[in-house]
Amino acid sequence: MKISLNARLAGIALAAILFGPLAQAGDNVLQLAFLRAAPGQIQSDGDPGHGQAEPEIPAARKAIDAVDFLDGNNPDRQRLQRIDEATRHLPYDANGFPDWMKALNRGLIKPRAGLNEKDRMEVLDLDIVMRNTKEMPFVKFPHRSHTEWLACSNCHPDPFLPRAGSSEIRMANIFRGQFCGKCHDRVAFVTFFSCDRCHSQPQKSAPKP
Ligand code: HEC
Ligand code: HEC
Ligand code: HEC
Repeated sequence: MKISLNARLAGIALAAILFGPLAQAGDNVLQLAFLRAAPGQIQSDGDPGHGQAEPEIPAARKAIDAVDFLDGNNPDRQRLQRIDEATRHLPYDANGFPDWMKALNRGLIKPRAGLNEKDRMEVLDLDIVMRNTKEMPFVKFPHRSHTEWLACSNCHPDPFLPRAGSSEIRMANIFRGQFCGKCHDRVAFVTFFSCDRCHSQPQKSAPKP
């Protein structure tokens, strides 16, 4: 049940970090009160805010929502703001969770690089293709997406030496929270339901190593 807990916490944590002082969509500063109760609401990807028919809730999201980690007996529970309310202006992924990369790429969120507003991220545009994937498509690790909001030191030298092919990674370890799993399932998208987002490089069309 760790996955569900992590996934929910992940959303909440990211929302708290990103939305507190920073989030701006165009000229509209998002008004976010974290201690307000609200009914759940999910929007599929596409134009946020269209208010059409209730979209289907993806099976993955339903499964994760079915496991509750909040204390049902705590009377203040209803006052907690729901993640869906905090993130309703954002695009959602196929699993029904905010798609943070799309939100970032579309400028819907603007995380700061540091305490000083002049701080800039050191963005590295380098894909690493990882080939020990058995029958699965290869893993394409995009430095660009990560370094838009993570420093090199978040990953180098631990958990990855900065040398392609130096890490021995197994899915079992990722699910236990090592390697990619240090962040995925925690502050980044849910591993269990998103194989194709990492395993995105068909073996046949992969560039030669
Ligand atoms: C967060 C990224 C990520 C996600 C999501 C992901 N994988 Fe992986 N997977 C990896 C990495 C990294 C490797 C190691 C590749 C390497 O070392 O060359 C790997 C390796 C594997 C391997 C070969 C090694 C082993 O453990 O047997 C299999 C099989 C595999 N993944 C299946 C899956 C399946 C099935 C899913 C979805 C349930 C999935 N993966 C989701 C990143 C991911
Ligand atoms: C989210 C994690 C993450 C971040 C952040 C990150 N890297 Fe990496 N980096 C990786 C992974 C994973 C590999 C591949 C390791 C492997 O194959 O064993 C890698 C490999 C590398 C390599 C080796 C490339 C090659 O062809 O051998 C270099 C150089 C590198 N990173 C530099 C950087 C720099 C510079 C930054 C910051 C601008 C950075 N990385 C940020 C995860 C990251
Ligand atoms: C230090 C934290 C961290 C580590 C370690 C990490 N990631 Fe990520 N990753 C993120 C964050 C944060 C995002 C953006 C949020 C999201 O998409 O949920 C992200 C997004 C991604 C994306 C989506 C990119 C896009 O443009 O849509 C892929 C693919 C990905 N990671 C693969 C991996 C793989 C494979 C590994 C291990 C080799 C890995 N990540 C390790 C934090 C991490």
